[in-house]
Amino acid sequence: MSSPGASFVSSSLSRTSPRRTPKSQFTYKHLAQLKSYSTTTPLRVIAHVDLDAFYAQCETVRLGLDPSKPLAVQQWQGLIAINYPARAYGLSRHVTSTEAMKVCPELILQHVATWKEGDEKWAYHDEAFKHIATHKVSLDPYRKESRRILKCIKEALPEKEQRVEKASIDEVFMDLGAQVHGVLMERYPDLRGPSPYDDPSEYLPRPPTTVLDWAADAVVGTGEEDGEDIDPDWDDVCMVIASEIVRDVRKHIFEQLGYTCSAGVSRNKMLAKLGSAHKKPNAQTIVRHRAVHHFLSEFKFTKIRMLGGKLGDEVVAMFGTDTVKELLEQPLEQLKKLGDDTGSWLYSTIRGEDNSEVNPRTQIKSMLSAKSFRPAINSFEQGVRWLRIFVADIFSRCVEEGVLENKRRPRTINLHHRQGSQTRSRQSPIPQGKPLSEAMLFDLAKNLLAQVVVDGRAWPCINLSLSVGGFEDGITNNKGIGGFLVRGEEAKAMLSSGRLGMGSSEPPTKKRKREKGNIQSFFGARDGQRKDFDAARAVLKAHRESTREDEDEDRDMEDGDESDAFEPLPQDDTYPSIRIARPSTPPPNRQDAIDDPYRATTPPSAQPPIIPNIPPSHQHPQNIPPADPPPPYKPPLHQETLDTFFCPRCNAHLPWLEKAEHEDFHFAMDLSKEMRQEEKNGGASTSSGAGAGTSRRKTPVGQKPGRGRGRPPGGGGGSGSAKGQAKLAFGRQV
Ligand code: CTP
Ligand code: CA
Ligand code: CA
Repeated sequence: MSSPGASFVSSSLSRTSPRRTPKSQFTYKHLAQLKSYSTTTPLRVIAHVDLDAFYAQCETVRLGLDPSKPLAVQQWQGLIAINYPARAYGLSRHVTSTEAMKVCPELILQHVATWKEGDEKWAYHDEAFKHIATHKVSLDPYRKESRRILKCIKEALPEKEQRVEKASIDEVFMDLGAQVHGVLMERYPDLRGPSPYDDPSEYLPRPPTTVLDWAADAVVGTGEEDGEDIDPDWDDVCMVIASEIVRDVRKHIFEQLGYTCSAGVSRNKMLAKLGSAHKKPNAQTIVRHRAVHHFLSEFKFTKIRMLGGKLGDEVVAMFGTDTVKELLEQPLEQLKKLGDDTGSWLYSTIRGEDNSEVNPRTQIKSMLSAKSFRPAINSFEQGVRWLRIFVADIFSRCVEEGVLENKRRPRTINLHHRQGSQTRSRQSPIPQGKPLSEAMLFDLAKNLLAQVVVDGRAWPCINLSLSVGGFEDGITNNKGIGGFLVRGEEAKAMLSSGRLGMGSSEPPTKKRKREKGNIQSFFGARDGQRKDFDAARAVLKAHRESTREDEDEDRDMEDGDESDAFEPLPQDDTYPSIRIARPSTPPPNRQDAIDDPYRATTPPSAQPPIIPNIPPSHQHPQNIPPADPPPPYKPPLHQETLDTFFCPRCNAHLPWLEKAEHEDFHFAMDLSKEMRQEEKNGGASTSSGAGAGTSRRKTPVGQKPGRGRGRPPGGGGGSGSAKGQAKLAFGRQV
């Protein structure tokens, strides 16, 4: 199928065109469109670059090993990446590490990095494969390498003529249109002038060459005897230039970082991707226009994107074949049995058409951290321990995405819980308008798990996964929002020193180690299920309470109105000097949500419903001065009906579905009041500002430490105490 290293005498697009024509098949318009990355120009040139045996290479490079030695990356007992020397032994992802060692005794087995519970970061652990029950795999090292490679690729391309899309952890697409256009103009000055008669539909002159040098590339043949007889046209010239660029990019990656990769160059993403897998490792494949038909005929269509799953199965079942060759015989009408759109899409796809653009947004849309449990886990406490790891994992990736600088920010958090064959999912919006912190995510995650537990039948659980999604670009020049942010470099420094952002008053490790058992000790020891259920209920209560308090704090911020000042947090022995930026202007009034561009972008589904007709004075059990209108009542999430019940304590109608939770809320508030009272009477060791540190650890569950430090109810918070960290004081967390 390939004609490697060939110089050849080439042709134009049309198979029926005369052998030599005075004009090109392409017009001045086609050429101009190339420069602007048009997806429809027939001169389009797209490349796909895919790293060879990526995770395996990451380990070889990290450990400074000889790349010719067989190496596989192990995950527990299985292999997830096998380098090419090891593949020569017939090893694949389907064998176990034990089987692999039998086949290839000199195989280097490197286990993936793992998070160990209680640790602040993933690490490479000795004999990690033994710890499946207590460790979780981390792909962070590979993501990090992926970013370095992406950066390196971008460096190898001209800054103003690059369009690169990260397609997965080890692949990118590049639209080389603008760069190739630039090279064409340099090499072929005849193309520079305006089109004759200023008519862009005029045909270009033919290329002044009949011979193209493909160097060492695998050039896919046409499958026809006279396929190379027709002279090259500009589409072929564009492919040659693109292949030179791609060769340079691959060389740069190898020289700078030591990785080999393979590439495909063709007229669209689909063909470029199929091309990059065509010859591996360390090779590049060119699929010219004239070779598309032949190239695709050799494939099973189930290898094509979107046809690997259910749709592919459906097509196989309907037409009794899985080859492109045989499917090409089906007329469009037949394919439309799959539906008009699907049929049309399939018809053009197997003919090599794909107008999807290379999307330069390299940002990810969601992040997931998950773990399958063998043996299953059986308690809320165990689940929460895993959530800590998931949150730490996700938060560190969020930081890489620029959440601390408000560049990007997720809008939703999801928990999937699997028990037997049943999967339960819970979702909640991530509060916007305040800095995202690890503590905030942990609180939300815990609350979601608590919801599952309280609903019943949560155990034994065989899989838990946590994800954040709906990433959106932050509004960096919105002072109301931006003012809440810890400044970029400082934030990073805080992160690296373990001093996480607002709301986290201790380094995560300490917290993780100490948090255990608070709920338990508070409610007293009870037997299994009951204890579990109580712990979950307590988390729901605490979460609801903290949501309330968040609202109070927002108001405090409005009142405080300190201009862009930094305010030191209370100090303790472990946490000497965390600083948080306060808003330079007050955030917009919550009731003016529509005027706030940040809130206006919130998708309706992410906005908790607002229940009207609740007098403001009854929305908060605290006394709120009339001059300070409270936020609208926010019922808990997942509300499905507006049927209401009357709460005599609030003097308000509230959603019926939330009755039990609402009563819990009053219970929690009463409890909290009682404790504050006790604190006052008994002189509990809490205070505000510097020196409050150690007391935080003694703060019992259910207490609202921020309110317990002598602030007047509903008070304007002018005391100088930092409000942010108080609500998340350690003692309240499970
Ligand atoms: N990967 C994985 N599980 C899969 C598929 C891929 O863990 N089912 C990981 C592999 O470990 C791999 C990386 O994702 O290193 C990239 O996958 P892919 O490009 O498909 O394979 P490579 O290992 O890079 O091998 P190749 O040279 O064939 O691209
Ligand atoms: Ca790969
Ligand atoms: Ca890949």
